This record gives sequence, C-alpha cells and structure tokens, in this order.
Amino acid sequence: METNCGALREKDAGKEISLNGWCRYIRDHGGKLFVDLADRYGIIQVVFEGPIKGAADQLGREYVVNVVGRVRKRESDAINNGMPTGMVEVEAKSLKIIGKSKVPPFEIVEEKEGFLPSEDLRLKYRYLDLRRRKMIANIEFRDNVTKSIRKFFWDEGFLELETPNLVRDTHDVSGSRTLLIPSRTNKGKFFALPQSPQIYKQLCMVSGLDKYFQVARVFRDEDPREDRQLEFTQIDFEVSFKDEKYIQDLIERLVRQVFKETLNQDIKTPFERMDYKVAIAEYGNDKPDLRFGYKIFDMTEESAKSNYNILKRVIENKGGVKAIAFRADFSKDGSSIDKNYMLSLVETAKNLGLKGLTWLYVKDSKLNSSPESISDAFKNVEKEILVKTKAGDGDVIIIGADTSENVLLAAMSKLRRAVGIKIGKFKTQHAFLWVDRFPLYEKDEVTGALQPAHNPFVSPTEDTVHFMESDPEKVLGKRYDLVLNGIEIAGGSIRINDPELQMKVFRRMGLSEDEIQNSLGFMIEGLSYGAPIHGGAAIGLDRFVATLAGQDDIKDFILFPRNRRFDSPLDNSPSPVEQNRLKNDYNLRIEK
Ligand code: AMO
Repeated sequence: METNCGALREKDAGKEISLNGWCRYIRDHGGKLFVDLADRYGIIQVVFEGPIKGAADQLGREYVVNVVGRVRKRESDAINNGMPTGMVEVEAKSLKIIGKSKVPPFEIVEEKEGFLPSEDLRLKYRYLDLRRRKMIANIEFRDNVTKSIRKFFWDEGFLELETPNLVRDTHDVSGSRTLLIPSRTNKGKFFALPQSPQIYKQLCMVSGLDKYFQVARVFRDEDPREDRQLEFTQIDFEVSFKDEKYIQDLIERLVRQVFKETLNQDIKTPFERMDYKVAIAEYGNDKPDLRFGYKIFDMTEESAKSNYNILKRVIENKGGVKAIAFRADFSKDGSSIDKNYMLSLVETAKNLGLKGLTWLYVKDSKLNSSPESISDAFKNVEKEILVKTKAGDGDVIIIGADTSENVLLAAMSKLRRAVGIKIGKFKTQHAFLWVDRFPLYEKDEVTGALQPAHNPFVSPTEDTVHFMESDPEKVLGKRYDLVLNGIEIAGGSIRINDPELQMKVFRRMGLSEDEIQNSLGFMIEGLSYGAPIHGGAAIGLDRFVATLAGQDDIKDFILFPRNRRFDSPLDNSPSPVEQNRLKNDYNLRIEK
C-alpha cells in the first residue's frame, strides 16, 4: 500500500506499505538505525535493522528515499505521544535512495525546537525552509482560504477572469510607483505591470460581465515596509448595478464563510463602521485597531495653558499635542508603574519621529511624574486633563507633540497600537471595522498638489460632489476600507461611470488633456459606451491570511517572498543585465 509520512496509526500495524520522504533525524543505536522520515503530511519513524541496516548507513540528512516495509506497534517505552504517528513505526524491508542531499545549511527545525537561521539564509534556501511544519501549515492554510473564497464567488454567480499583466502605464493611478518592462519589439516603449486590475475590471463591467473576480497577482514599486511586498495577491472583484451596501454585505458574508470553513469560528456581522474623520481624530490613522480602547485626545489647548515649556514651544511653532491614557500598573493594586516599559515607549516615540514623549501617572486622583517638576507644570490644567482623558488611579498618560500633524498622528497611533498589543485587554480577538467617507483628494505635503486619496476612479458622494470645483478637499468618496485588528485587509469603492466626471477628476489631479488622452484615454473611451453603475473591492490576500492565522509576517504565507530590502536572496534578483543586451534588444543604456 502506498502511503505518506503522516497517515499511519495503530490500526495499520501489520500492513505492508511503501513510503516516500526526507530523512529528517537519523539516530544510530548500534544494531538499529532510526530515521524520522518527513513529508508534507507528517513524520514517521522508520527502523532499519538486520541486513538492511548496512544499506541505510549511507543515508544523510534530507536524503529523499523510498522505503518499503511493515508497520508495527512501538514498544510501550518507545511510544511518542507528541507525534500523531507516535504509536507505530515502520520496519524497513527495502530502501531506495531517490535523491541525495548536500549537508543542509541549517537544520529543518521548528522555532520551539531550536534556533531559526537568519531571515536571509532562510530565504536563500526557501525550499528547505518550506519543509518546516509551520511553513507547510501556513501554505496549506493559504490554500484553504483561497479555496473557500473561490467557492464563495462561484456560488454567488461570479466569473473568475484574468486581466492582463503587461499593461499600459497609467500615471501611477493606484498611488504607488509602477514597475516598468521595456519592449523589445517596440524599442523605446514600455509595458507596465499592473498595480491592480482596476481599469480592466471596470472595462469588464462595460462589457456586461457583471460579476467578476480574480485571484490577481499585482505589482507595486513601493518603498520596503514590513507588511508590504513588491508583488502580492489581491482577491479582486467588481459588480454592476449594485451599491456600497451590497458590496460590504457581500464581503461580510465572504469573511464569515472563510472564518467558518477555515477556523470553524463564527464571527459577528455586520461589522462596525467609522467615518474616516473620526478614525483620524480619535485613533490617529485610518485603520484603528479596535481590539482595545485607548483613544487619542487632543491636548493642545490644555498644554498651551500649562507651564510646560517644551510643549508650549511646539504650539508656538504651529504644532499640536496629543495624549493617550491607559492602565499601566503592573501590580494589582494600581500602585506601581513599570518605568522600564515607559522608557522603552519614549525610545519607540523617538524612532517614530517625535523628539520625545512626556508621561504622567495618576495617583490619589492627582497627576504625578518623576521628576515632579513635569506634573507641577500641569497643575493649573490638572482637572481638565483628568476629565478629558478619563484617567483614574493607576493610569498613565503619554503626551506627544510635533509641528507636523501627520508625524504626530502617525507616531501616536503606532504608540497606541504597541501599548494596546502589549498590555491592553482585548474586547475581541477579531476587531473588524469599515472605515468610510474618505476624502476624494489629499494634499501632497511637499508640493501642495491634490492627489486622489485612493485611486481616481472613486465616485464622489452625492452630498459632497458639488464641492468638486469650489473646494475639492471637501469632496468625499464612496469608498470603504475593511480593517481587521488594525490591518487594512481590503479596500474598494463605487466607481465613476460618467466619462465627463471622470475627466474632471483627472484634470483636478493636474493631468493635462494630452496626458489624460495618452495614458487614460482608452478608459474614458470605454466609459463612453454605456457604462453601468459599478463598484468592487480588493482583499489583500497575504495580509488577510496572515491576520486570520494570528501571525504578523506576511512573508510566512508567501512561497518565495522578498526580504526587508525587497531583494531575493534565492535568485539574487534584481540583477544587472549586460549592456550589450540592453542596447541590442531594447536600445537602452545605463548611465554610470
Ligand atoms: P488597495 O490599493 O487598497 O486597493 O489594495 C487592496 C488591498 O491590498 C493589500 N495591499 C498590499 N499587500 C501586500 N503588499 C502590498 N504592497 C500591498 N498594498 C496593498 C491591502 C489592501 O487593502 N484597485 C483597488 C481595489 C478596488 O478599489 O477595487 C486596490 O488595489 O490589504
């Protein structure tokens, strides 16, 4: 019987079987050689004794072999309850070496069993790293989630379609830079890799293919960041003749099904909802982690009235002050604050771009600090601060200030999340949140130019569209982002289906008529032949899967990811290309 390394149990004792697997651990006990044979399905002990032992002596770590043998119960003192196959072992009758292995650069061990090698080494030998049980489980989990999502869309009558991967460069309309590919047959011209299937899925709606979905590989030339990759996977979909409510409800049903099918968990729908403006004001960013409270309070007014000169100077320079109150007593009676933890938060604040972080604590309903001079400086506004932050005995108030509101909000929101994850009491394991009513445009901090806050295809809301000419920053979009535990896992919108309005939005971005015609003309043309009302969204599959599995690193769910610098230690890409090839094939020259 052909079987695998994870399948055998006590009931199989006596069966003759054939197995393929990798020699993970090899132990020579004199007359017997024990080999733990591993594959995707598990690990099983194989025993070589008697004449066959001689053949097995040449085995090395990670050799891939075929073993034919008989399953037998282990002696009672050899049973390993830590392994699903731990009641049995295979008595080998024949052995075939299918593939020898060089001595692997690291042992294939789980985190709990030993030290993992550096990330770059793991990525260089990714195919070995993928032999770890955790990685196998992650990759299988990803497959389960994808399967569940596909099933959901097919059951809802969606078509799985494929949009092109070599597309027209369209002025970075999705907000990040575009990866370009030179054309050999059209020298001097370039293809773009899609940042999303956005325009093409909209054109599908014009075609009448009214329910589209795609497991789409997309490409963004982003600056390296922890939860990003240059190429990643979106679950992309689009529907016609539907509104935001339908699309959000569809995603909620999809998420509910995925949780049920992959984790056997029931989640509560509908999800909470929050205006973008509220999210920014109270949580500092557009993806608040609502597993815990800890709102951010504006303390500019109170600080201006106080005698704390550091903050007053920031305010004089048109800056602001924000505070977060949280319970940081590490003793039960609320009397002790962990100073080391507070000092580590000050360091974090500095790394996030603040010049420092002030902290006060509440004892006997009064503000305290060490040194006392800090709380003394706030004495005249003590009551206002306590009322606003609702801080009580045992609470700490951290206060940050900066002349740039963006820097301050970004830092405070990150501090809030760090504190919440470290010491917050979670109200729920899975805090879902819809953030909506985003502004259509945002101002570029450096140039002052208006940029679409998401992509330029978002339809304005009926109640704000009239500001388009007079005060475009007031225009809101029919856009919605889905946040799970502080991570943006999906984003979408109802689109503009009127070509005239779409032109207006492009013009407002500062694109000239020529630029619009040259790069986006094909889309405007498409919208001009009967474009239905349409909208959709994209789920970031890598982030969704990692968050569902309760893990932070999306790389652990991607087969061959890039490292923190976006290089690939596996194939050393990106790599130089010979000057001759560039010249002959593409008529390109690299300036030194
Ligand atoms: P958006 O740009 O919000 O929307 O992308 C959708 C989701 O993709 C994930 N994501 C990423 N994941 C890993 N690495 C990255 N570099 C990265 N960038 C984004 C996020 C995000 O929520 N065309 C629109 C969708 C639409 O409107 O239908 C779009 O691409 O989880």
